[in-house]
Amino acid sequence: MSMPPGPRSPSVWQTLEWMARPAAFLERVHARFGDPVTIRTYWTEEPMVLFSHPDAVREVFGLDPAIAPAGRSWEFLRPFAGPHSILLLDGEDHLRERRMLQRPFHGERMRAFAPLVAELAERELSSWEGRVVALERMRALTLEVILRVLFGAAEEVELRRLRDAIEDTLAVVRSFPQVLGMVLVRRDLGPRSPWGRFRVAVERFDALLYELLARRRADEDRDSLVALLMEQRDEQGKPPSEQHLRDQLVALLVGGHDSSAASLAWAFERLVRHPRVHARLAENDPAYLDAVVKEVLRVRPALTIAPRLLLEPVQIAGRDLPAGVQVAACLWLAMRREDLWPRAGAFWPERWLEGPAFNPSWIPYGGGVRRCAGAPFAEMEMREVLRAAAKLKLRPARPESERAKRSMLVVVPERGGELIAG
Ligand code: HEM
Repeated sequence: MSMPPGPRSPSVWQTLEWMARPAAFLERVHARFGDPVTIRTYWTEEPMVLFSHPDAVREVFGLDPAIAPAGRSWEFLRPFAGPHSILLLDGEDHLRERRMLQRPFHGERMRAFAPLVAELAERELSSWEGRVVALERMRALTLEVILRVLFGAAEEVELRRLRDAIEDTLAVVRSFPQVLGMVLVRRDLGPRSPWGRFRVAVERFDALLYELLARRRADEDRDSLVALLMEQRDEQGKPPSEQHLRDQLVALLVGGHDSSAASLAWAFERLVRHPRVHARLAENDPAYLDAVVKEVLRVRPALTIAPRLLLEPVQIAGRDLPAGVQVAACLWLAMRREDLWPRAGAFWPERWLEGPAFNPSWIPYGGGVRRCAGAPFAEMEMREVLRAAAKLKLRPARPESERAKRSMLVVVPERGGELIAG
């Protein structure tokens, strides 16, 4: 069984490009080898076949999880995500976990968080003056938002300690040298090694989280999401273990903050270079606000791929693929195919008002049973931040557009969405 074509350069080189210039790499291999294309990076141990045609993407999202488990593609996250993490589970266990985690992010309950998010966004943006790195500010804001949503009325001091511990843990990972990090991340070479420092940071974070959970159990606050998670019962009527709760919270904290921060940083990176779009946002038209959110997620998706590991040979888009390879819907390529999107590379929110409101190739949240569990929340958060941003005077710190680079699981603007406010 032959694999689809792809670059012959060594894996180390492909990994470098994948990390440092992800957009250019994906676009180059697509232009050179077409669809599908096979890449080899240290991101996964197996070669990865990328698909971007909507029919193939639908097949990838529709794969039976028993044959193509998505959880296996995120195995490298296990040391932080934990064994009960939704990201690592498949089949029935995954669906059960998903039902639970999605409950709080739907309908009324989710809408009830909008005023809180609006208030935090207003407060953050009103402090902007002079040079601002949007990514840094958005990481702080989205972490603050998700912590407050999860822990409700927890005391300031508790939240601050937890926030610092998460930031420290993520900072250790972000500081790993790019390619070397991918290799070292799997090797424990003692407490001073990158992996050792990471392990210590996670232990510190866990200790704080368990302390906070114990205190939450004792108090009367029944409105926070953590209270809702504590009320879960399995088939035998047993509540979740502390470790299980911890893993759920980590999935929401990490899943819910880095990708939103990256998307918002891109929103600022695009907005400051499109003053006409920024000005129209200030007119307060909800349909236009939605269009801007959708267009940011299309033109700069925070996650570039939705991967699944094949345990058995399958056929996708008429191609036989062997067991033991990764197949991925390539979100980045699918949303900038010239044959599906007029002016694919342009940031043009009007496309959503003038053209069809739905395009099956708009897949920033992945798809199938693994589609992002926090999508409605993420969009509400983006809307509230952009509403607050509409009132600001902003300009780019440098005229040229920022290229994409990888930061852990997401792609971010290489200078963090650097801008001048005021
Ligand atoms: C704009 C921001 C966001 C983007 C672009 C995004 C994107 C994604 C993508 C691409 C996936 C993988 C889908 C697949 O494999 O098919 C995913 C999964 C997930 N996301 Fe998001 N996400 C965002 C925000 C959030 C937020 C705010 C939360 C929670 C509060 C969240 C929670 C999750 C969870 C729990 C999963 C795993 C779902 C599963 O495995 O069943 N995400 N997200």
